[in-house]
Amino acid sequence: MEKVLRNFFLFLSKNRFFTKIAKRYGLRFGAGRFVAGETVPNAVETIKILNRKGMAVTIDHLGEFIDSEQEARHAADECIEAINAIAQHNLDSQLSLKLTSMGLDISEELVLENMRKILEAAQKHDVFVTIDMEDQARCGKTLELFKELKKDYDHIGTVLQAYLYRTAEDVALLNEYHPNLRLVKGAYKESPKVAFPEKSDVDENYKKIIKLHLENGNYTAIATHDDAIIEYTKQLVEEKNIPRGQFEFQMLYGIRVERQEELVKEGYKMRVYVPYGNDWYGYFMRRLAERPANVAFVLKGVIGK
Ligand code: FDA
Repeated sequence: MEKVLRNFFLFLSKNRFFTKIAKRYGLRFGAGRFVAGETVPNAVETIKILNRKGMAVTIDHLGEFIDSEQEARHAADECIEAINAIAQHNLDSQLSLKLTSMGLDISEELVLENMRKILEAAQKHDVFVTIDMEDQARCGKTLELFKELKKDYDHIGTVLQAYLYRTAEDVALLNEYHPNLRLVKGAYKESPKVAFPEKSDVDENYKKIIKLHLENGNYTAIATHDDAIIEYTKQLVEEKNIPRGQFEFQMLYGIRVERQEELVKEGYKMRVYVPYGNDWYGYFMRRLAERPANVAFVLKGVIGK
């Protein structure tokens, strides 16, 4: 049943019609639990609260299925607005973004132009930028663009997904760039031709790439809500004498909040991924797919209104 629900929500997450409708009607169905509001000032308030609790943030202006050059340029401007707000309010926050929202599906020139504009502003204000990883079809292109941009900008990182067969090799191939990588399990619906279908295999590969990247001496963000992976990382860094300054844990806004606070108390660096904006639909559906138990929460929100 869980698998059926997961596939259903992942199917819904890709629906362009619902994506467009949702943008028009604002945050609904309990999405506010996972999204920090629709505007930069909403996000700033949330970041201030998290920073006061000792947590760092990465802010994400939500955006998917960009159809036009104009929309992509607008999304890039929104990112620059977020960077300026981080600087103006002196926030402990990085920026995360998706290349499709910068025009990846339109043209390489457009996405590079938008990224360079963002990275110039980020460099000026010393804000680190992470390129989120999207579906497998866009993984190779995303890594190519990351490498291209990394030649000119230092404060840029990206994400690798443990569920893809290719990822261990990508960790090895990217090593020459000494990248700051966020490692995740992977959130999209992928074919068994390209991704491990069994969760146990994903978890094993996740441990493998965490070890590989840390032992290569690179900065590693372990972005998971899974206690088994968190414990594995704690033991590994202890055994291998990896300094706390070489890694951090990351979790999504609104998920396992108490665990986030515990990790801070234990002295680990904890970063919360804070999405904001009116394009919340696809992000929200992927969160429901990860944990159909959250549907009960959503239904309560709908019925309660
Ligand atoms: P898993 O799904 O196995 O869950 C382990 C446990 O965590 C569950 O048993 C439950 O207790 C808890 N949990 C997990 N999800 C929950 C939820 N939604 N609500 C409540 N509890 C939950 N993916 C991607 O493809 N590209 C990307 O760029 C990113 N970026 C990213 C950034 C950050 C900061 C995080 C934390 C995650 C991502 N992801 C991502 C998403 C990632 O790939 C993955 O889908 C989710 O993190 C869920 O996987 P877990 O590792 O948490 O484990």
